[in-house]
Amino acid sequence: MRLYKKFLDGVPEYLARYYWWAYLWNWGIWLFDHQPVINAILFGQYDKLLKSTLAQVETRPGTKLLQLTCVYGKFTPAMLSGADNEIHLCDVATGQLQLVRRKTLRYADRCHLARMNAECLGYRNDAFDQVIVFFLFHEMPAAARNNTYAEIARVVNPGGSVLVTEYGATPHRHWLYRFVPFRFLLGTLEPFLPGFWQEDVMEKLNGALRQNDKALQGEPGVELCFAGFYRIMRFNIAAR
Ligand SMILES: C[S@@+](CC[C@H](N)C(=O)[O-])C[C@H]1O[C@@H](n2cnc3c(N)ncnc32)[C@H](O)[C@@H]1O
Repeated sequence: MRLYKKFLDGVPEYLARYYWWAYLWNWGIWLFDHQPVINAILFGQYDKLLKSTLAQVETRPGTKLLQLTCVYGKFTPAMLSGADNEIHLCDVATGQLQLVRRKTLRYADRCHLARMNAECLGYRNDAFDQVIVFFLFHEMPAAARNNTYAEIARVVNPGGSVLVTEYGATPHRHWLYRFVPFRFLLGTLEPFLPGFWQEDVMEKLNGALRQNDKALQGEPGVELCFAGFYRIMRFNIAAR
């Protein structure tokens, strides 16, 4: 039996096949939740990405936020300590939910965890004032990304926003991309990244919003990081 099949416990096949070592294997979960490891994976950009993303997180009292899937590091505790609002967090991997629970115990009364597939959310329409997606899309095959855009568009409230922190568009001129062995390594470890690099996130989200009788309000706010290798995008949704 292929090793990854041992991890096929109610998770999408792509997650077990390509990322068991990073998100499903207990030793992997332990290893990757160390700040120096996270920072190395993001080429020293973690604190900048964290700060820029947190600056866009909705903090108005009474707003309801959805963090779509767990992330390693201090992002979720930092978000919870920055405001008093309610945060829902879902992930399909139980090990990830256990990890984030341990890191957010003091906020347990307003940090609601659920095991869920991002492609098929169990929340009602228009449930959230902001949906936050931190480095998820590039780890999904195209069909899973499309399903996830559709679900985000369904659950976000008109007048709310969608915050996406991710790799930038194909970084043709970036020195890392031009270094072919590195590009090969990254493409091997992140097999869906080349497809995501070419994706027009705004077009995809806009199409999904239209299916839900919603629309973007104006142009997205985009902040580039590490010469465009990463980006923080904020999409405001028009009020009805
Ligand atoms: C958000 S990405 C994390 C990115 C980044 N490496 C980090 O930690 O900052 C990884 C998470 O997404 C979860 N995940 C991947 N595909 C999913 C899906 N279809 N539904 C729910 N969770 C998913 C994995 O279980 C994992 O916890």
